[in-house]
Amino acid sequence: MQTKKLTIAIDGFSSCGKSTLAKDLASQLNYIFIDSGAMYRAVTLYCLRNNWISGDQIQITEIINALSTISIEFKIDDQGNKSISLNGENCENEIRQGHVASSVSRIAEIKEVREKLVHEQQKMGEKGGIVMDGRDIGTVVFPHADLKLFVTASIEVRVQRRFLELTQKDIQMTLDEVKDNLVERDFIDSNRKESPLIQAKEAILLDNSKMTREEQLQWVLDLVAGKEGQ
Ligand code: DC
Repeated sequence: MQTKKLTIAIDGFSSCGKSTLAKDLASQLNYIFIDSGAMYRAVTLYCLRNNWISGDQIQITEIINALSTISIEFKIDDQGNKSISLNGENCENEIRQGHVASSVSRIAEIKEVREKLVHEQQKMGEKGGIVMDGRDIGTVVFPHADLKLFVTASIEVRVQRRFLELTQKDIQMTLDEVKDNLVERDFIDSNRKESPLIQAKEAILLDNSKMTREEQLQWVLDLVAGKEGQ
């Protein structure tokens, strides 16, 4: 029997393992994986490079006018590694740096930025067979997704996970800096006017604070098996 190609939306707070889960699921199911946060980070990097962000000052008009010149793509190299490119340049590592992390929530508040990226994300998901993670995937990007998850974990666990990830990438940040950034981003993401982070009505809550990577994958695969047969 041909199984149905699902659209899976994963939303949740910063650094709760959404992308890891989405990547594991996509690889297990042979689906496309899209880290939508990387797209907001790439736009932020472009704005930083153009000096449109300085402290609390953001040059919104310049950013909106430049949106049509920003091209974001996901590419896969010969070894199967996926990376994001900004106007043709691989920016996978640079978008994870502290200066991008500190500004991205401000850029993600801009309505026109969201409209552009949501449109591109919807095109990527046209054929189904996709796992996308972010903040508004189940509410705005794919409101009719077959499976919606809302992922969370305790702040202590999230700080540890992000700190470890940054250390592995040789990015220097203290535990306190990581925590401040997560708390600030969660606040802005949950309280902004445009598509705030909220749990979609149908989304299933997954608190993975005490789960291993394998346990959370299996937990979701069981849900997927139920949906594929429907
Ligand atoms: O998932 P992440 O931490 O890489 O996301 C970076 C920022 O991008 C996050 O603080 C909020 C924003 N974002 C968003 O507003 N909507 C999404 N779908 C994904 C990310």
